[in-house]
Amino acid sequence: MKILVTGGAGFIGSHTVVELISAGHTPIILDNFSNSDRSSLKGIEQITGKSPLFYEGDACDIAFVRRIFEENTIDGIIHFAGLKSVGESVTDPLRYYRNNIDSLITLLECAKTYHTKSFVFSSSATVYGEPDVLPIPETAERKVSLSPYGNTKKICEDILQDVATAENSDIHIIALRYFNPIGAHPSGLIGELPIGVPNNLVPFITQTAMGKREKLTIFGDDYPTPDGTCIRDFIHVVDLAKAHIRTLEYLSQGQNLTYRAYNVGTGLGVSVKQLVETFEEVNGVKVPYVIGTRRTGDIMTCYADPTLIRNDIGWQSELSLADALRDAWNWEKNISEHDKK
Ligand code: NAD
Ligand code: UFG
Repeated sequence: MKILVTGGAGFIGSHTVVELISAGHTPIILDNFSNSDRSSLKGIEQITGKSPLFYEGDACDIAFVRRIFEENTIDGIIHFAGLKSVGESVTDPLRYYRNNIDSLITLLECAKTYHTKSFVFSSSATVYGEPDVLPIPETAERKVSLSPYGNTKKICEDILQDVATAENSDIHIIALRYFNPIGAHPSGLIGELPIGVPNNLVPFITQTAMGKREKLTIFGDDYPTPDGTCIRDFIHVVDLAKAHIRTLEYLSQGQNLTYRAYNVGTGLGVSVKQLVETFEEVNGVKVPYVIGTRRTGDIMTCYADPTLIRNDIGWQSELSLADALRDAWNWEKNISEHDKK
């Protein structure tokens, strides 16, 4: 299948492009490098020996996106392109609403015009807010988000549902709600490239272990959890990438579905402290840390019930937390070595 991958130069997108190629599909990448750079395209080429067709531009630009559809017969779309910093979305909400919602509408309009029937969207566990049920099933209530970023995901899900269920619509849409993607490709050739100070836990840990940062601050150890720190469902990015390929293949089998949302997680809750300890054990390096105050807006405990995607689509996570932390460290070592040159 020929698959348009928006945001394909980014963290999850680049790993998905690699898995698409390994599965015999033909990805076409669209990216504007607003949060990535060309090095990921080089990494994809080194891993797969192939250089996918690449279009540089903005997914909100309808004339540009139309051109891609004019020049190619697209069988499916995976829409990763989006801005993802929770904090930045609070200070600049309009940029987030414009980018994340406009790009979705643009892609959906093109899908309709050019009769592309399969659409996979990057949603997030953030739509559940502070959950009432654990592990979280897809039937859990979606809460009002504490950030404009989270709201864009909820609004995008609503748009997708309306479009898919409209009369005469022939598009089949699946929103994948990611839990916490971590790790990197085992080759060490692609991974997460945070710009500036990382917001997310694992890049902060790897940079601290590398000595780029003095210490990690664990945001609160006074939560009512077994060790007092927050609990998350950390999923290896390669497992997450494979979930997209399985989902597209499932859609292409002519499923009788209009719109559905699936959790993509391991089903395991791991605390922040457990993750730090596992990183130290697996990699034989120390991560100096201090305990700080709670971070505003943090959810205490969040982990998936991944039963639905396993039963319907036949996907489940295969890689361990140790695999993910080993691969994240390998990636950090590679980019640090590269930076020195
Ligand atoms: P990323 O920033 O690494 O990748 C996103 C890519 O999209 C980047 O390469 C960026 O340059 C590109 N992009 C953004 N806006 C664009 C536009 N208008 N036109 C063209 N390209 C554009 O992020 P990621 O971690 O790979 O996340 C991918 C998707 O998954 C995002 O939609 C994100 O919100 C969602 N998601 C991520 C996480 C996570 O923790 N990483 C969790 C849940 C959901
Ligand atoms: N944490 C620290 N110190 C740090 C960074 C993080 O203690 O320096 C803690 C956080 O307090 C949280 C846990 O590590 O308890 C995970 O934090 P992340 O920022 O890595 O991830 P979040 O779960 O807060 O958010 C992530 C994505 C969001 C997405 C959400 C749900 O960053 O975009 O998962 O999918 F919305």
